[in-house]
Amino acid sequence: VFKNPKEASINVAHRIANIIKDKQKNNLNAVLGLATGATPIAVYAELVRLHKEEGLSFKNVITFNLDEYYPMQPTAAQSYVSFMNEHLFDHIDIDKNNVHIPDGTLKLEEIPAFCLDYERKIGEVGGLDMQILGIGRTGHIGFNEPGSAPNSGTRLVTLDDLTRRDAARDFGGKSFVPTKAITMGIGTIFKAREIVLMAWNRKKSPIIKKAVEGEMSSEVPATYLQLSDNVEFVLDEDAASLLT
Ligand code: F6R
Repeated sequence: VFKNPKEASINVAHRIANIIKDKQKNNLNAVLGLATGATPIAVYAELVRLHKEEGLSFKNVITFNLDEYYPMQPTAAQSYVSFMNEHLFDHIDIDKNNVHIPDGTLKLEEIPAFCLDYERKIGEVGGLDMQILGIGRTGHIGFNEPGSAPNSGTRLVTLDDLTRRDAARDFGGKSFVPTKAITMGIGTIFKAREIVLMAWNRKKSPIIKKAVEGEMSSEVPATYLQLSDNVEFVLDEDAASLLT
């Protein structure tokens, strides 16, 4: 638990930087699972600063984002492709061929094969060294909404009404928020060697309490993280305020 989101974000960014540098020393790629949303913005800002001011290179970094709305054009302002470019990829020296984000432009019938391929690609490069997560007020991680199975893989899902309400501001109204998304599964996330879930603000404190102290249930998908030995919650004091 950190005093504020900024200190917490800097800590997470430095851990990511250490993974990248350790891998560089051994001529290996670092494979990162990335999240979008308000929560990781300051983490990406610190990674950009480390690149610009301290020479941290991302040449050996391969990334897989958790999710993308469906349908979604990558050029749309609300796409997670635009988000990642704006907050990270356009400001660092990553090879864009090493960037993977679920494709919101697929035809429905193309999605199952795409999802299997996403899983295969993660495996092929050695699996995720670290997956960073935010948490939705429904308890979703990625877009694994209530009802998601602990062994779920990358797939097309239906967004919860609360998730769409929370996204309404970005889209200029709930009716413009897509009803579906392509997301890594809980099983996909679980395979990461380290999982770091971040949450800030009092708004997240009820769901953080459920995720950490509540009974494990598909009703709150983040409770499945209780099963993992490799998970850490990084919180600010407000998000942690209801924990006993
Ligand atoms: C984003 C994602 C979501 C968000 C969650 C919290 O890629 O998978 O699970 O992490 O909805 O969003 P923010 O950070 O905007 O509160």
